[in-house]
Parts: sequence; C-alpha cells; structure tokens
Amino acid sequence: MLGLGLSIALVVAAIAALTTASPAVEPESRLALQRRAVPILEFNCNEFPQVCKTQCYGAYCAGNGDLLRYDKPDKKEKRNRRKQAGCEKSGGNRCSVKKNHIIGFQCDEFPYASSSPKGSVTARLNKCVPKAENNKQGGQLNKFYQQQCGSQPCDFQVKMTNGGALCNPGNKMALDIACRTEKINIEQPGAQGPASDSDSSDDGSDMDLAKRDYFKAASIVKRYLTSAGREVELEGDHNIGRSILQVVARNETLHEEQINEDNEEDDFDYMDDNLDIREEIVVKLI
Ligand SMILES: *[C@@H]1O[C@H](CO)[C@@H](O)[C@H](O)[C@H]1NC(C)=O
Repeated sequence: MLGLGLSIALVVAAIAALTTASPAVEPESRLALQRRAVPILEFNCNEFPQVCKTQCYGAYCAGNGDLLRYDKPDKKEKRNRRKQAGCEKSGGNRCSVKKNHIIGFQCDEFPYASSSPKGSVTARLNKCVPKAENNKQGGQLNKFYQQQCGSQPCDFQVKMTNGGALCNPGNKMALDIACRTEKINIEQPGAQGPASDSDSSDDGSDMDLAKRDYFKAASIVKRYLTSAGREVELEGDHNIGRSILQVVARNETLHEEQINEDNEEDDFDYMDDNLDIREEIVVKLI
C-alpha cells in the first residue's frame, strides 16, 4: 500500500499545485480524487499491437472489463490461471515449438495471470503473440507492480491507447465489429474443439466461455487534458485528478536487447532497472 499511498499524496500535491495555476479544478475534486485513486496504467498499442488485441478483446469483447486487481498469486495459482486461459496444454505451452507452433511466439493471456478482473465476469483467454511484444508488455506490468504497488496487491485500470476500434469502448457499434473480426485469433477455453456439454476435462478448459462474447455495454468516453498537455479519452466522469502512468524505457537500445531475450520463466525483473514510470494527472474535461 506504500506505493498507492505515496501516489495519492503525489496526486493531491499535484492537484493543489494545479488549483493555484488553474481555478477550473473544483474543490470537491479532492474528495472525488480520493475515492477514485485507482491509477490508470496506459499502454501504447504501437509498441505491442498483438498484445493489445488480446487485452482489448479480453476487456471489452469478453466482458472482463479494464479494472483489474494485482492479487499477488503464487506460482501455482498463476499456473492454474494460465491453464484456465488455455495456454497450458498437456505436453507444453500451446504457443511453443514443442506444440508445433512456429518459433518466436509466447502465450499472452488476459486477464494477466498475475491479476483478476474487478467486475463480475472472469473469462480468461489467450492468443499467441511475438515473444518481444509479450516481454515488452510483461516488463511494463512488472515494473508497475513493483514500483507503484510496492509489490503488494493493488487495483488499477488498464487503458490501451492507439488500439483502434477494438480498444475503444466508447463506440459500441465499431467495437462489436472489431470483436467479431478478432475473435478468430483468440483462444478461449471451450472454443478449441467440438466438445459437447457432456465432455469434461476437469482442468477448466471445458468451460464454455465462447458464449460470453460481446458483453460490453456502451460506455461514455470523454476527452480530458492531462498535466503533460496531452489529450486522452477516458471512460466516464470523475476522472479529474486521476493518475495516468506509463512505463518507459531509459535506454532504448538496451530495452530492445532485453525484450528479445528468452524468458520462458515469465520473470521480468531483469528489465526493472531500465524502466521508469512516467506520471501525468488528469486536469480537466475538454
Ligand atoms: C544503452 O545500452 C547499450 C546496450 O546495452 C549500451 O551499449 C549503451 O552504452 C547504453 N547507452 C547509455 C547512454 O547508457
């Protein structure tokens, strides 16, 4: 909680500073701020387009939503979750060469094995994505858990920027079409074979989650200005004062080397020292 506490303090300080500079920030936003202190972890889909598709499909098409809790699962629980997502097949990971997949791919899940959705639906799913994309996103997430969450359980909202219609819950009609298009690339438990209702594999892979498509209700997305002078689209009201975090590499050359390393253990600590968290605050509705 140290990380979150510190973050709230920083946000309150930033708001106080902004209030002097701009009278548009209303006093009650401090309270709204404390209620809505869940930070936004922003991913730039230009950095890992395939990973973004898994995430946006999982969040907006399959109904998990984008509010997540890092719940610090142990290794065994993470393995269970990967299995629920359909990554683990008997004899190996489905995206590995052992399972006859072409080389250079990893199984990317949403929700992340390290987290659980905050909403009522948990539909874990996966897609095979290029290794470097998976490592890049995994490194960012790991950095966030360590630095922002202080390696303790914490809540956050993911936002996938530059991901097109699939990542925009504000346009329900375009989203529905994007969901249908992306569906063929996604593996979900129950979508992998002609299993009938009476089939049971007892490993979670026969849950018929394929029926849980297109859950996303229309949401209102509004444009906001951040403390960095950037315009972002965010769901709903009460975003003033929220923290938007991006994880960025210090040395791009080193980062490129690191994301191409083999990382079968799914341990991203080796990237930490070369990553920084950049924070912006939402300052006003525009
Ligand atoms: C960035 O990383 C590369 C590769 O490790 C290294 O050769 C280079 O010296 C680094 N640059 C800086 C400015 O540290």
